[in-house]
Amino acid sequence: MTSARRIALASRPTGQPARENFRIEEFDLPEAQEGQVTVRALYLSLDPYMRGRMSDAKSYAAPVPVGGLMEGEAISEVVKSRHTGFVPGDVVRGRTGWSSHAVIDGDQLRRVETHGAPVTTSLGALGMPGFTAWSGLKFIGQPKSGETVAVAAASGPVGSMVGQLAKLAGARAVGIAGGAEKCAYVKDELGFDAVVDHRSEKFASDLKTACPEGIDVYFENVGGEVWNGVLPLLNPFARVPVCGLVAHYNGSGSADTDRLPATMSAILQRSLLVRGFIQTEFAADHFDEFLKEIGPRVASGEVRFREDIVEGLENAPEAFIGMLTGGNFGKLIVKIAG
Ligand SMILES: NC(=O)c1ccc[n+]([C@@H]2O[C@H](COP(=O)([O-])OP(=O)(O)OC[C@H]3O[C@@H](n4cnc5c(N)ncnc54)[C@H](OP(=O)(O)O)[C@@H]3O)[C@@H](O)[C@H]2O)c1
Repeated sequence: MTSARRIALASRPTGQPARENFRIEEFDLPEAQEGQVTVRALYLSLDPYMRGRMSDAKSYAAPVPVGGLMEGEAISEVVKSRHTGFVPGDVVRGRTGWSSHAVIDGDQLRRVETHGAPVTTSLGALGMPGFTAWSGLKFIGQPKSGETVAVAAASGPVGSMVGQLAKLAGARAVGIAGGAEKCAYVKDELGFDAVVDHRSEKFASDLKTACPEGIDVYFENVGGEVWNGVLPLLNPFARVPVCGLVAHYNGSGSADTDRLPATMSAILQRSLLVRGFIQTEFAADHFDEFLKEIGPRVASGEVRFREDIVEGLENAPEAFIGMLTGGNFGKLIVKIAG
């Protein structure tokens, strides 16, 4: 038996999660059975959707039970294999949770493929977040040359990919980010055409100035106050892929105003397409196509990414809590072993 460490959900948070909602515990790793693989985690991905799993409110996915392992995807090294597809030393990606080790069915693992980019990109630019950006734009946003595409959380793994793909499609990319440092990165390093700080008191007027022709595609990552600034700028027939609402995940962000009448009027009067999606809807049929198209561009540096790597499984809760209010700068990853 190997002694391993994992992080469990100790209790359900009300509002912003706190350190005491998580519990680190040791456990004995069982032996792998036929078809299973034992893995040692190298990098754990921390993502906003995990806030939803901590709550038992009705959602598209089941909650983590209190006392259960926090869900998540990690890159791991195969230690032992009783599955014909893997041998020790293979580097794989799978939903092994917030844990230093796991025993998992080999069929649920995927070999890491990054076209030569760092392995960590398989959790960010070339993983679920990058695919989310790509599929939301390809199937819903569909930016055309000369159009304006706006996206918030623009320095993060989804938003940074959205803006760069918009540019590749010949559109104008307008980023929304929190604070001067993130804004400078979005404009100067990612190459967006304009960027607006949502923490500024002048946010709505700054956004209007940054979008002189209005907005044709608003890739919705945050909701909250940002939506108030975006709504008046949406052009007739604008598309709004609704990808995430991180400003609301802690149960705050928009409770003070009822924006439904204004939103519904705009949808009607400007013939808006507002379409929610979860990336799994497209992943089975299109992930390989995404990887083939974007993998070489990330590996060559044409499509850029930034990672925020925190050391140590024990530091995952704090890093995750910070991400929900913008404490991360780039794709948030926890290095568990090297
Ligand atoms: N539908 C799907 O299948 C799917 C898949 C993956 C991700 N998502 C969603 O996509 C969004 C982005 O995910 P990500 O992994 O790329 O996250 P991320 O950008 O790494 O982290 C979240 C960011 O949201 C911003 N934020 C937090 N509170 C905000 C607020 N009140 N107003 C404006 N911005 C705020 C912060 O950036 P600033 O400091 O710049 O404000 C923060 O860094 C999330 O909503 C996530 O749930 C959806």
